[in-house]
Amino acid sequence: MGSDDITVESPTYEHEVEEEKIDYQEENILLKVKMAEMRNELMRYKMPPLLVAEVIDTYPENCCMVRLKNGNEFYVNVDTSLDKRLKASDEVLVEQKSLTVIQKIGKKKHFDVSKYVIVEKPNIKWNQIGGLKDEIEELKEVIELPLKKPELFKKIGIEPPKGVLLYGHPGTGKTLLAKAAATSTNATFIEIVGSELVQKFIGQGAKLVKSIFEMAREKAPAIIFIDEIDSIAATRMDVGTSGEREVQRTFMQLLAEIDGFAPLGDVKLIAATNRIDILDSAITRPGRFDRLVFIPTPDHKGIVDILKIHTKKMKLAEDVNLNKIAKKMKDMSGAEIRAVCVEAGYFAIRDDRFIVTSKDFNKAVVKIAVEETEKKKDLTYMG
Ligand SMILES: Nc1ncnc2c1ncn2[C@@H]1O[C@H](COP(=O)(O)OP(=O)(O)OP(=O)(O)O)[C@@H](O)[C@H]1O
Ligand SMILES: [Mg+2]
Repeated sequence: MGSDDITVESPTYEHEVEEEKIDYQEENILLKVKMAEMRNELMRYKMPPLLVAEVIDTYPENCCMVRLKNGNEFYVNVDTSLDKRLKASDEVLVEQKSLTVIQKIGKKKHFDVSKYVIVEKPNIKWNQIGGLKDEIEELKEVIELPLKKPELFKKIGIEPPKGVLLYGHPGTGKTLLAKAAATSTNATFIEIVGSELVQKFIGQGAKLVKSIFEMAREKAPAIIFIDEIDSIAATRMDVGTSGEREVQRTFMQLLAEIDGFAPLGDVKLIAATNRIDILDSAITRPGRFDRLVFIPTPDHKGIVDILKIHTKKMKLAEDVNLNKIAKKMKDMSGAEIRAVCVEAGYFAIRDDRFIVTSKDFNKAVVKIAVEETEKKKDLTYMG
């Protein structure tokens, strides 16, 4: 490049500086935008998390009642810039410090109840239950017959009970009976556990109960099995703490649902408890669980029956006399009898045998009896 070219083509010094200035100004603007973006990002990181709540009711002058997931309720302000009008059951975000509602995240979706309860088509036949002949007959009458032949009841003009309450010691076959009733009527079996309803789903118990009954109607014929019903339906002297109020709400919803469905419909209720002594009498009023069935520990014949059921697939030595073994198992529950059979099988396995002998059973009876006594002792120590 010659020196003449430089004088003709290159801009003046001022022009050059001017251009450079514009470049810097542009870069400056870009950096400012970037900085603002980063500051926003940083603010977002620093922002305390927002609480998710549900609107219970709305009031004039931008106020509403919200319920947090833990069940606590607050009367709060709604940010005035929130243009959408809030309604009960809307889900909203609430600022932690001021508890102001600052954003609506939409209507609360239909509660997906199937995530929280066991829904199945069980496969337990009546003949897999030992003893309990009268109790099985009663269940057939109260649950099976109305589901299978509702017209019979219409003709005679009587209403079958909506539900039955099974009570008795642990491991006596209450769950088994409920499942067998579902199997024989080809009903969907929806199992909920009272204590889980109020412990696992704090603040949601009542809603869950509502959704469970909705689901039962959709999947009918259905049997709703409420295990440990005493944990939601126990008599309470006072409802002081929020936990107690929550249990109370869940219980009220349960009563409302039971009252709300027709006795001749295709949804039936079975509840179970080990603690009938503490149940609130509201649950057993006519039209609710008005049929109470005691499930006893088996008598001698019952024990033999249950032993037969649980040894059906086992290879027993000639010397095994179930009648004799049963005599040593007085007062054992069905669950303990089953445990004895499993344990006897283990004694054979440890000895490298496929055939289970009467000695295996004798050792197993002692082992289970000792284990059960230990368990009871532990429970006493725990208070
Ligand atoms: N009458 C019975 N006949 C045959 N097996 C039984 C009987 N009772 C109990 N069992 C056995 O014991 C197991 C536990 O019984 P189940 O769960 O029905 O007892 P439960 O009364 O519901 O006890 P819980 O009160 O602890 O819930 C059953 O799965 C079954 O193997
Ligand atoms: Mg049970």
